Amino acid sequence: MLVISNPWELSTTIQTLKQKGKKLGLVPTMGALHQGHTSLIKAALNECDEVIVSIFVNPLQFSPEEDLEQYPRPLEADCQICEQLGVAVVFNPIPAELSIKEQPQAILETTQVYPPSSMTSGLCGKYRPNHFTGVATIVTKLLNLIQPDCAFFGQKDAQQLAIIRRLVADLNLPVQIVGCPIIREDSGLALSSRNQYLTPPEKQAATNLYHSLQLADLSYRQGTITSETLIKIVTKHLQTIPNLTIQYAKIVDPSTLQPLSTIQNSGLLAIAAYVGNTRLIDNIILD
Ligand code: PAJ
Repeated sequence: MLVISNPWELSTTIQTLKQKGKKLGLVPTMGALHQGHTSLIKAALNECDEVIVSIFVNPLQFSPEEDLEQYPRPLEADCQICEQLGVAVVFNPIPAELSIKEQPQAILETTQVYPPSSMTSGLCGKYRPNHFTGVATIVTKLLNLIQPDCAFFGQKDAQQLAIIRRLVADLNLPVQIVGCPIIREDSGLALSSRNQYLTPPEKQAATNLYHSLQLADLSYRQGTITSETLIKIVTKHLQTIPNLTIQYAKIVDPSTLQPLSTIQNSGLLAIAAYVGNTRLIDNIILD
């Protein structure tokens, strides 16, 4: 397995793989790999001949008060995981190698990709103002550099996935975006690199995010299609959990991310909450 930090070196390696006629899969990550990430890598290995994993903690998608410095960076362990799985290349650039300045100059001094505000102003975007512009920009850079046949993203970040699908369609990028299901612990807690910040009691409290979604799912399957009622089920449950503060609970169209008052075909029920100081997200598709 090659570990490459220089974009030019990466391009040469990619060209060689392409000349050999290999179908290339890209799995973009910020590292601290867990089974959520490895499920994406395994899906990529299944569908493609060679897999490239990018590991880059992208300053563009963090606002100044967020956890950019604190974000875990266990590169050696990540590379070991990738190597064991059969990844061909780990791309691990530093911000300067991608012409990205560290915050706060980053936003001001980089050409960026702006997804439609109808998709970035709601859900997480309301609380993380430049986040999805930062994500769209880095994903566009990675897709341009690597030009994979397929790129793999988790449904865990449902807003991110919808925005990337839209970005690829709107900019005619020649790549197939593959969405992969959410991987959870047995407790129901969705795997996340940020779960490392949780104390054991906080981790216990965090399992209620999924429990609340399951309660809404049950009610939906029993015939409740009004968003307001379904959301109340979620918020009522979460309000009883100590140490947990809901940031939002919303039902939107899974592709356009526009709010739905009733679910006719399918709805994305997405929530964000603080458990202690850690912000967690989760979602479920009701269809
Ligand atoms: P990161 O949080 O490292 O996640 C990388 C990919 O893993 C994303 O597509 C995310 O949805 C997926 N993922 C994370 N947890 C998952 C889980 N429990 N089940 C399934 N998939 C899961 O998302 C990012 O990085 C960044 O925004 C990135 C796209 C790399 C751009 O910087």
